[in-house]
Amino acid sequence: MLKDQAATLRTLASREATPRKRFRHSRVIVVASGKGGVGKTNIAVNLGLAWAEKGLQVAILDADMGLANADILLGINSPHNLSHVFSGERTVREIMTRGPFDLGLIAGGSGIAELADLSSTELARFIDSLKELDQTLDILLIDTGAGISRSVMSFATASDETIVVATPDPTSIADAYGLIKVLDARNPNTQLRIIVNLCDTHGHGQEVFDRLNGVAQRFLNRELQLAGLIPRDVMVQRAVRQFQPFYLLYPHCRAAAAIGQIADTLLCEESLGADAAQGFGGIGGFFQKILQLVR
Ligand SMILES: Nc1ncnc2c1ncn2[C@@H]1O[C@H](COP(=O)(O)OP(=O)(O)O)[C@@H](O)[C@H]1O
Ligand SMILES: [Mg+2]
Repeated sequence: MLKDQAATLRTLASREATPRKRFRHSRVIVVASGKGGVGKTNIAVNLGLAWAEKGLQVAILDADMGLANADILLGINSPHNLSHVFSGERTVREIMTRGPFDLGLIAGGSGIAELADLSSTELARFIDSLKELDQTLDILLIDTGAGISRSVMSFATASDETIVVATPDPTSIADAYGLIKVLDARNPNTQLRIIVNLCDTHGHGQEVFDRLNGVAQRFLNRELQLAGLIPRDVMVQRAVRQFQPFYLLYPHCRAAAAIGQIADTLLCEESLGADAAQGFGGIGGFFQKILQLVR
């Protein structure tokens, strides 16, 4: 009897502890870069974990068709992807696998390429399925492939918030600026934030941001925001080799500290205020825009 009561209490307590969606509007944040191998997937996964650790409801959509590897970094297997949603076999919630801190992972897979050719039935099913996500997620983080391919551009153009990842490597700076220029032309209202990854020193990272921002101010007449700098940290590679996110495996490493700081910066009053004021269309609105762009 006592045992039963304890079990009931535990169930009630765990229900009570179930984290609830905290933001009224789901935020959609796209992580993009001009050049590949700059750390996008590592940033998306570890940033997602930092937010999920705070109790936010976060999911990552792996929209990189070429090198989809968010699941590898999280050490989880995603048997289904968006194409199973389009075909009606699964809902988005059903294909979402769960990582540490309940971080969601949605594999885009071949579905990303199918976005452009959905029939109206498939489309209706997909949009319906997204409404479910809108009601439960605080943040959908989208990890993309590198460059300005059609799908990357449509994701970044439809999004109200894009993080462009650059490194101090001169070709990465040039490619980051190329991406920023196209994004600015297509969606002047999108918030463009920069992360400089693989910084050897703080000063050098800041210099890279200042250079990008200087060019953006001069030629595009727009101000970029610095989301943060991430040092080159051997622990990142070590964690990747163990198929685990560095934020979990080495929580005290310098890269993890930087991720924690970026997570806080992006949650600060200022970004939230801007989101609320603009009344973003959430995840459903985001995909409606994408579909207009790719069709
Ligand atoms: N801050 C960092 N310090 C050290 N190595 C890093 C860092 N960020 C990324 N890397 C290395 O770069 C590789 C590519 O990172 P990844 O996140 O897959 O980039 P992308 O998704 O942009 O192609 C990683 O496997 C890791 O070895
Ligand atoms: Mg990647």
